[in-house]
Amino acid sequence: GKGEFDHYMLKEIYNQPSSLSNTIEGRANDGEVTFENLTEGTFSDVDAVQFVACGTSYHAAMYGGQLLRSAGVRTEVLRASEYESTTGPVDENTLVVAVTQSGETADTLEAVREATSRGARSLAVTNVVGSTAARTADDAVYIRAGPEVGVAATKTYSSQAVTLALLTQQIASDVPGGEPAADKAKLLESLRDLPEHVEEVLESSQAEAIARERLDSQSYFFIGHGLGHSVALEGALKFKEITYEHAEGFASGQLKHGPLALVTDETPIFAVYSGRGDEKTKTNAIEARSRGAPIVAVGPDDHSLADAADTHLSVPDTHPVWAGLLANVQLQLVSYHAAKLLERPIDKPRNLAKSVTVE
Ligand code: M6R
Repeated sequence: GKGEFDHYMLKEIYNQPSSLSNTIEGRANDGEVTFENLTEGTFSDVDAVQFVACGTSYHAAMYGGQLLRSAGVRTEVLRASEYESTTGPVDENTLVVAVTQSGETADTLEAVREATSRGARSLAVTNVVGSTAARTADDAVYIRAGPEVGVAATKTYSSQAVTLALLTQQIASDVPGGEPAADKAKLLESLRDLPEHVEEVLESSQAEAIARERLDSQSYFFIGHGLGHSVALEGALKFKEITYEHAEGFASGQLKHGPLALVTDETPIFAVYSGRGDEKTKTNAIEARSRGAPIVAVGPDDHSLADAADTHLSVPDTHPVWAGLLANVQLQLVSYHAAKLLERPIDKPRNLAKSVTVE
């Protein structure tokens, strides 16, 4: 049941320190990544990786895909429903990675079928043991987040992103020419602190006050660059899904190429940053601010964006690869509290189902 929580969504947000610990358990030891069922060298024939996913899982795939690309591996991240029209060449050296919490999303299963019919090898990254994706793919890696009841994906997003970041290290060390992170030991070391850092966010978050302060806005924008871009998209998806308010996510630099026309003092902008390479987010946030938009900075304290913003949702200092996941927890809380203040049916938003088994 929901226990002490009003909604499953809040319970699942608060479950993240423990679900993340489960995800990481035994997989990041002594500076090395190990997956229980993937032997070293298993990806040595792979020369390109395609992620396919939908919705929140697509955002986690963007996160993992960017990490894999910067590890020197040819990577595409494709919306499963657009697979046929967006895929490049596929052959037996292509690894298609289906990222799907339920393992039952029809669009994602169909994309995998299409890729494997062209000769690709498949890997399911899923939460559900025995799901269709797990049974049909060549291999399966479990995110181990535990059951998720709320239609809005929360803890499973965090566990997907962490699993994909770890998988990146294994793929990059197997694939010829791949380059595991130069600071891998540090990366894995700070991953071990992630559950505790999420706990700190949950204990100190000002998200409810900010949701209340901005409740009568016309539209909610979320911006970010690099890994922060995928977090911005995820923040906007969650917000629209459960509040029914209009929300959009953008790559920071894209704001001035059109969406800025919508910006007024009625369009709060949540600016996600990690502490590395966030200049674009800062300059574009400042530009929007000069048009009247209230800016909420979402990231570590020690950054000039935090000073330039109207308000700040703070996250603990960590490796820049994990900072976005902490920012995402803040955004989950903003969405939850806004939806609660608006008296929405948070766990079962209208028109949506937990898993979408039609194309
Ligand atoms: O089970 P899956 O991860 O394949 O589901 C994909 C999407 O339908 C899902 O993430 C959806 O976007 C969530 N309701 C978002 O919160």
